[in-house]
Amino acid sequence: MLSWDEFDKEDTEVAAKSANAGQAAEPTMDRLDSAGGAAALEARAVTATDSAAVARAKASLDTLDIAEGLAELEGASARVAVDEKRMINCRADLNQLVPFKYDWAWQKYLDGCANHWMPQEVNMTADIALWKNPEGLTDDERRIVMRNLGFFSTADSLVANNLVLAVYRLITNPECRQYILRQAFEEAIHTHAYQYCIESLAMDEGEIFNMYHEIPSVAKKATWGLKYTRSISDPKFETGTVETDKELLRNLIAYYCVLEGIFFYCGFTQILSMGRRNKMTGVAEQFQYILRDESMHLNFGIDVINQIKIENPHLWDAEMKEEASQMILQGTQLEIEYARDTMPRGVLGMNAAMMEDYLKFIANRRLSQIGLKEEYPGTTNPFPWMSEIMDLKKEKNFFETRVIEYQTGGALSWD
Ligand SMILES: [Fe+2]
Ligand SMILES: [Fe+2]
Repeated sequence: MLSWDEFDKEDTEVAAKSANAGQAAEPTMDRLDSAGGAAALEARAVTATDSAAVARAKASLDTLDIAEGLAELEGASARVAVDEKRMINCRADLNQLVPFKYDWAWQKYLDGCANHWMPQEVNMTADIALWKNPEGLTDDERRIVMRNLGFFSTADSLVANNLVLAVYRLITNPECRQYILRQAFEEAIHTHAYQYCIESLAMDEGEIFNMYHEIPSVAKKATWGLKYTRSISDPKFETGTVETDKELLRNLIAYYCVLEGIFFYCGFTQILSMGRRNKMTGVAEQFQYILRDESMHLNFGIDVINQIKIENPHLWDAEMKEEASQMILQGTQLEIEYARDTMPRGVLGMNAAMMEDYLKFIANRRLSQIGLKEEYPGTTNPFPWMSEIMDLKKEKNFFETRVIEYQTGGALSWD
């Protein structure tokens, strides 16, 4: 165990020696600064014990120009005031995390960290026995497990690539970047979770991971998302014009509202429904942790999109609104097709028609979350239990419950 008393004792001894040497017992910060600077310079001097290699390394640092180096950093060099911070096209220094402008982004970062989990913590024993038992699951149920592992194993990787290769660079706010780094790691954990399920169940890895090339309902969703990454992942892409700012906005809507906000929902519902029926409970528990993370990714994305709209109202014109609405409707249509493909007949107490209602209900929510008109009037939620697991209107409550469960190490309950 470390004890701070030991360090205190040493400090006191050093201070006493300094005082004995005739120096002030409590030197001022200025005096310390100048003494420290001089001592650092002194350390650069080549000594008799330095090898030729060490001497060369020291000499090469003599040409290091601080002003030149820092000029290459993004943003201006002054201390940052909160009013200078902006979601996109910000000129203030992006390496100064505080003062926070968007407290919600920092809070989401803290909440994400509090929710940390790893796939190996989930017990897969019952799943392995059930999967190996020829009588364990129906063909329809097996198909659902495989299709969803096929879709998700690629989808989370697409989301991660989009974040680190495109979005991170273009969002010019340090507290949001901090959350994006956390999200990127969570996407890696999700891909790990699918790999862990696939390995535990001894599935054909090639078949599952290549499904986004081979199964049309999976391929269409992946292709639709990739369309919105192409231009902004070009390293030469820059925001700053109406057209390029809109291009970034389109990407955020495609990934946060559609990929993470609609494309995941048929699969989540199917796998969680299995868990509620005591089937594939390990896979379902993995998906429940993933859903908890995803609900926060979605809420973060919605907040970023709405903040960009507030700071850049000229981007949110009639044309952009129409485009955003169309994107959400296209995504809903593709997810309805995925529901039909994965459920050609009733299974697990649900069918494609019920899923269609659910997806329209979710689409209305996504539209209204970014300030657009709902397009499926009168739809209700046929799966109220999904709302209990991840209440669409009270994500925070859901989240707080799960945090407590996770932190106390309790297993997830399927009641
Ligand atoms: Fe994910
Ligand atoms: Fe995500």
